[in-house]
Amino acid sequence: MRNIVLIGFMGTGKTTTGKMLANRLQRPFVDVDRKIEQQMGLEIPQIFSNHGEDFFRDVEAQIIAKIARYTNTVIATGGGAVLDPVNLRNLRMNGIVVLLTASLAVIYERTERRRTRPLLEGEDKFKIIADLLAQRQSLYNEYDLKIDTSSLPPAEVVEQIIIFLRQGGYLRGRS
Ligand code: S3P
Repeated sequence: MRNIVLIGFMGTGKTTTGKMLANRLQRPFVDVDRKIEQQMGLEIPQIFSNHGEDFFRDVEAQIIAKIARYTNTVIATGGGAVLDPVNLRNLRMNGIVVLLTASLAVIYERTERRRTRPLLEGEDKFKIIADLLAQRQSLYNEYDLKIDTSSLPPAEVVEQIIIFLRQGGYLRGRS
């Protein structure tokens, strides 16, 4: 069975939805950021501050290349996974790609209090998010299903994904 790959900007619900979806489908769940942290023995902010973003992207790409060969797995990527087109190409080989989106205001609200995302650190977080979203908009353009999670609880997002998978014949009558 193909993987189900969640892509999308920070704060669109990839990890939360991915965990719930995997649970619901009784499939393994893999979070690319957690794999990076395990491999490095460091948390994301420390990887950025000790080694820089380019290094983080290299590790991210290596791990994605490995995980893309899994089967039957729900995979949550980091928001920047789409920066390198090779990552998405790898993930699409054996994966159904679900793009999660959310409005700028909702992303701000969901990420505001967390200090776990080095790219969002700075004086004016709202502007940082707005600029990054605008820069990346065109990169989130390859997907099989797109869901705006702005006003949907994660359980609803999971339902929509399952309906899509059923309709596409990807679930073979289960779940
Ligand atoms: C990043 C998103 C983060 C994490 C890192 C960089 C990005 O993941 O990979 O901080 O470039 O958008 P989430 O999307 O899970 O927050």
